Amino acid sequence: MKKKVLIVGSGGREYSIGYFMKDEADIFYAPGNGATEEFATNIDIKDFEELAKWAKENKIDLTIVGPEDPLVKGIVDVFKKHGLTIFGPSSKAAQLEGSKVYMKNFLKKYNIPTARYIETDDKDKAFEFIDSMDKLPIVVKADGLCAGKGVIIAESKDEAKKTVEDMLSGKAFGDAGKKVIIEEFLDGYELSMFAICDGEDFVLLPAAQDHKRLLDGDKGPNTGGMGAYAPTPLATPELYEKVKTRIIRPTLEGMKKEGAPFEGVLFIGLMIVDNEPYVLEYNVRFGDPECEELMALIESSVYDMFYNGATKQLDKIDVKIKDMVAVGVVCASKNYPYSSSEPAEIKVDDLSDTNGYIAYAGVKKIDGKLMATGGRVLVCVGFGKDVEKARDEAYKIVDKVHFDGKKYRKDIAYQAIGK
Ligand code: AMP
Ligand code: GLY
Repeated sequence: MKKKVLIVGSGGREYSIGYFMKDEADIFYAPGNGATEEFATNIDIKDFEELAKWAKENKIDLTIVGPEDPLVKGIVDVFKKHGLTIFGPSSKAAQLEGSKVYMKNFLKKYNIPTARYIETDDKDKAFEFIDSMDKLPIVVKADGLCAGKGVIIAESKDEAKKTVEDMLSGKAFGDAGKKVIIEEFLDGYELSMFAICDGEDFVLLPAAQDHKRLLDGDKGPNTGGMGAYAPTPLATPELYEKVKTRIIRPTLEGMKKEGAPFEGVLFIGLMIVDNEPYVLEYNVRFGDPECEELMALIESSVYDMFYNGATKQLDKIDVKIKDMVAVGVVCASKNYPYSSSEPAEIKVDDLSDTNGYIAYAGVKKIDGKLMATGGRVLVCVGFGKDVEKARDEAYKIVDKVHFDGKKYRKDIAYQAIGK
C-alpha cells in the first residue's frame, strides 16, 4: 500500500518535498497552498495536539515539518508523545536556531569554528567589547527569531553601539533583542550546507548558494531568498570533508551530550575564509528556496531519506544524488518584501520544451483560478548538466510564467558563472 505523508507548512519548500515524493506516497498538507491541492490533500488544523490526533486516526506513516516556527514551539515533542513518526528536531534541539546565544555558546563549548563574539544583555559590557575590537565592520545580532532581520552589519563603532542600545531597550525587536551577540566580521564567501540527521548519523546534501537580497548584484533589502542553486562548484571535496569532520560530527556529538540529540535538517550557514569553513548560523530546517533545488537532485527515494532520518536508520540507506545542477529563480509579488500585494491570476504557458519544474509558494485557489497572493509566489527551477544550462532553463520557465507585478532577480547563480 502507498505510504501516507503529512507535510507541515505552506511554502515552496514544503511544495517541493511533497512534489518529489508524490509517486511514493499519498501526501497531505497542513495547511498547504492553492497549488499543493493539485496533487495532495490540504487540511486545516493548527493545534499540534489536534493535528497529532488527526495523523493517528488517518494512519500517517511519516510527518515532515518545513518551517522553524512549529519546531521551536515543540510540534515534534507532541507528535512523539503520541507515538507518531515525525522528521524534525525536538523543541530543545531547535534552540540551535531559536536562540543565537544558545547556538554561539554551543559552538564555543564544542570547539566548532565560528566568529569571535560575546553575548550579553548588559550595555556597558557590550560597549566595552565594541571598543576593544580592532576591525570594522562589526556584526550585531539579536538573540531570538526575527524573521532573518535581526542581524546588523555596523560600519562604525558608533553605529554598533546605537544598534545594541536599540536592541537591548526592546525598541528594535521586542523581546527577541533583549540579549545580543556582538561578533567579528568574517570576510569570505557564503555557502549553505544541509545535513539530514537522525541523532547519530547524517547524510550531507550538495552545497547551495542563496541570494538573500532583493535586487541584482546583491543590492536592496534582505528577503527570505530570491533564488538559489546547487551544487555549487565553490564547494570542493576538501571543503565537504572539513565541514563533516569539524562541524557536523562535533555538532551531533555535542547535541547528544546536551541531552538534545539532533534529528532533522541541520542547515549550516557557512562563511568560507581562505578555504576554511566557519559557522555563521544554524537553522533546524531546510532553506527556502534551497530545498526546491535539493529535492530535485535526489535520485534515490525521497521518502526513505526522510523516513530513515526520522527512525534512526540513516546508516541503512544510500542517498543517491543526480549528476546535474538545479537553479531556482524566485518570482515574487509586486510589493515584496515591504507589504502585501493585490491577488493576481497566474498563467503558465506550455512548459513541455523546458527542463525543470515550478514550486508554488504564495498562491491560493480563488474561484478555481490559481492566484498569486503575495510574498514569494513561486520558484522556477531549471535543470542542466552545468550551472549555466540549468540557469538558462530556469529563466526559460520564468518567461512562461505570467502574473501582474511579477518580479525576480536576473543574476541568480552569478557566483558560479561570472555574470
Ligand atoms: P545570520 O542570520 O547570522 O546568518 O546572518 C545573516 C547574514 O549576515 C549572513 O547570511 C551573512 O551575510 C551576514 N553575517 C552574519 N554574521 C556575519 C559575520 N560574522 N561576518 C560576516 N557576515 C556575517
Ligand atoms: N533561504 C534562506 C532561509 O531559508 O533561511
